[in-house]
Amino acid sequence: MIHEKTAALLNEQINRELYSAYLYWDMSHYFEFNGLDGFANWYMVQAQEERDHALILYRYLVDNNINVELMDIEQPNRQYNSILDVLNTALHHEKYITESIEHIYTEAFKQRDLRTMEFLNWFIKEQTEEETNANNMISKMENFGNDSQGLYLLNQEFAKRQYKKPDFE
Ligand code: FEO
Repeated sequence: MIHEKTAALLNEQINRELYSAYLYWDMSHYFEFNGLDGFANWYMVQAQEERDHALILYRYLVDNNINVELMDIEQPNRQYNSILDVLNTALHHEKYITESIEHIYTEAFKQRDLRTMEFLNWFIKEQTEEETNANNMISKMENFGNDSQGLYLLNQEFAKRQYKKPDFE
């Protein structure tokens, strides 16, 4: 049995992942309007991955007979003043999501809910990758993005990212 407190946190996490999708979609839109279609692609793929994270959580709760409540998704209404501002916001957000996942894990641990702990292992690993990706983008931007040629090449690199379904079993 999943304890009701853990179930409520997992339910909230669905909303956080959907907000993440919305946030990255909005970042993608920012880049579309600033002529950086490669950056826009990178964040649109990220938005798709976040939607998948929400669906994985939803499936886990439903498969464990939990009545899921879909909540309002907050508007991502940030105004960005530079590319680096977007990239730093993304890293900051991923750290927040990592904390949130770890909080749920801690609750599951308290309840001796081994099933949920096992389920969350995938998310914990995924968060390492998400933070690494966000950090790498900042480093690349700081190292190479300060002139138009470097930015052009970075944009080309980020244009190559392709969506693939998560490797969640
Ligand atoms: Fe689903 Fe980027 O955390």
